Amino acid sequence: MADADAALEARLSDQEYLRPPSAFVGQANVSDPAIYDRFDDFPEGFEEYADLLDWDTRWDEVFDGSDPPFFEWFTGGELNACYNCVDRHLHERPNQAAFIWEGEDGTRRTLTYRDLYREVNKMAASLRDVGVQEDDVVTLHLPMVPALPITMLACARIGAPHSVVFGGFSASALAQRATDADSDVIVTIDGYYRRGEFLHHKEKADTAVEEADTDIDTVLVWERHEGTLHPEADLEEGRDILVSELLANNERARVEPVSRDAEDTLFLMYTSGTTGKPKGAQHRTGGYLSYVAGTSKYVLDIKPNDTYWCAADIGWITGHSYIVYGPLALGTTSVMREGAPDHPHKGVTWEIAERHDVDIFHTSPTAVRMYMKWGKEHPASYDFNFRHMTTVGEPIQPEAWLWYYTHIGNEDAVIVDTWWQTETGGHLITNLPALQDMKPGSAGRPCPGIQPAIYDNNGTPVEAASGQAGNLVIERPWPGMLQTVYGDDQRFINEYWRRFSDVDSDDWRDWVYEAGDGAVHAQDGYFRVLGRLDDVMNVAGHRLGTMELESAVAQVSEVAEAAVAARQDDQKGNVPDVYVTPRDGVAASDELRQDIVAAVEKEIGAFARPGNVIFVGDLPKTRSGKIMRRLLENISNGKDLGDTTTLRDPSVPEEIRRQVQEA
Ligand code: WTA
Repeated sequence: MADADAALEARLSDQEYLRPPSAFVGQANVSDPAIYDRFDDFPEGFEEYADLLDWDTRWDEVFDGSDPPFFEWFTGGELNACYNCVDRHLHERPNQAAFIWEGEDGTRRTLTYRDLYREVNKMAASLRDVGVQEDDVVTLHLPMVPALPITMLACARIGAPHSVVFGGFSASALAQRATDADSDVIVTIDGYYRRGEFLHHKEKADTAVEEADTDIDTVLVWERHEGTLHPEADLEEGRDILVSELLANNERARVEPVSRDAEDTLFLMYTSGTTGKPKGAQHRTGGYLSYVAGTSKYVLDIKPNDTYWCAADIGWITGHSYIVYGPLALGTTSVMREGAPDHPHKGVTWEIAERHDVDIFHTSPTAVRMYMKWGKEHPASYDFNFRHMTTVGEPIQPEAWLWYYTHIGNEDAVIVDTWWQTETGGHLITNLPALQDMKPGSAGRPCPGIQPAIYDNNGTPVEAASGQAGNLVIERPWPGMLQTVYGDDQRFINEYWRRFSDVDSDDWRDWVYEAGDGAVHAQDGYFRVLGRLDDVMNVAGHRLGTMELESAVAQVSEVAEAAVAARQDDQKGNVPDVYVTPRDGVAASDELRQDIVAAVEKEIGAFARPGNVIFVGDLPKTRSGKIMRRLLENISNGKDLGDTTTLRDPSVPEEIRRQVQEA
């Protein structure tokens, strides 16, 4: 196998590109390059995506750009997202699996489209029973169990936007998000499995209710094992209700899907920005669903008779768009799994792929690097055959790409590297798998109808395909884009538009979306995304704000000041290093270090745990007192300090570097 790797590597450095297998091209959903021309007919091209859906009322106008940057899509149209993902498949494929779920403890459950229809109707009726009305935001804090998509779809059915908070987020993070969304219902579960342990999950909702600045009067509790609660979980009278009891009252309930305006909100998804406060990316119903259905079809090449497995968590945008809404809108079968990828053994991913004959596999570069570390013998022990593989969330190094291609794809599957963001709703830069050659490490061409560009720091467009690095921007709106930051239009303008737009103009063509990433547009027309340029880092594919981490650390009373720097990590991409100055009279100690780590776990969650906590005498600051994180980042990454002339005390970074080296 080592020889095969060497041969491939040689091939790679020779040509840099790999052709999609002809067998793939022959069966692909899109194999005619004319698609790009169709979508360049802006905005009408995007009707092709909207036409994949069933509308109650057809739209009057595809795009309304009259009030930038508050763009509207498919105005006048009406539809229901749940109907499109569930009901409309009942005629053609009632008995086909919508989800095949694997619990970590070995439990398996198949939900056919008809099962899903029943469960979603029961849950929708139950939500109404507890008083949820159209446009009420429902907060979900659920792990990877069927209850999660069922609850999301039930919300969509009655027109109540959901706000799913990733299950790994702490009670405080949950409270903060529920407060911002002004949500008075939390849906949780008693417990779930992770690495063989039955974790108590509901306690986070209990604490969140205490901490939230909004009156959360209802907590709906799913049971991981129906009929028995987690031994540590209990119910608070008058507030907590077992979902199973509500469902039992609604055994045969049918809830008419509410016809939603295309611009009505489908969901909120909180994400990290450059301030300490997460922002609620607000997504519309019609444009979003059209966009994710379209990209699921053309980019992921999903067909109804496929078995598709996206190993992301539904609690992040990838799971919303490409586990729930896109694949279900197309009526395919999805695999969904609870638990850790190394439990009960490191081959479990491939065992499941074999068991269900998965055709399309979707994961993150972090996961690929992890599989690579575990060794090729794990996938080699199972009999599976992917036609198509996706990566998402971070840049993928050519070595990891190559390993994925060889040992998971058997040199016989296409790989698409998809660049997008919580805010963009769906893929914006990625090759269409039958139309372009793969180039390891590059996301590739813009998606149909999408117009990315590179701007320099002065806001001047860099010549197209010049190979020069700069700020990645999107020059033209698209249907999947966020509507606004929930409750904060000003922040929406400031964070995404102000820097590169003419904000006084009411012509939408003068408005340019800032992605926050650095990228290169190479001579071959492919985009290579380099990573975040703002104070956001990517830890194992999870997006985290430095300010968010810093405010968590500041909760520790012995801390005078803290700054967080992203350290490059072979495995996780980035790991946060925390630089801390203790208060006067407080000694640096292991105990303090542990308190700091605990504070991050409490405020955000264990997945955000710092790599190093480094105690320093002073932090590098400009004369105006601004902390220069860039210098800390250079220290963390063993790089040259660079320009330190603007510092108040230029000796500070050298001193810190000395401390780091001694530590
Ligand atoms: C990064 C995840 C390189 C990028 C869907 C972006 C990527 C952030 C890629 C958004 C990719 C995502 N190549 N970098 N293919 N995909 N990113 O909101 O920095 O969790 O801005 O959305 O992830 O992260 P988010």
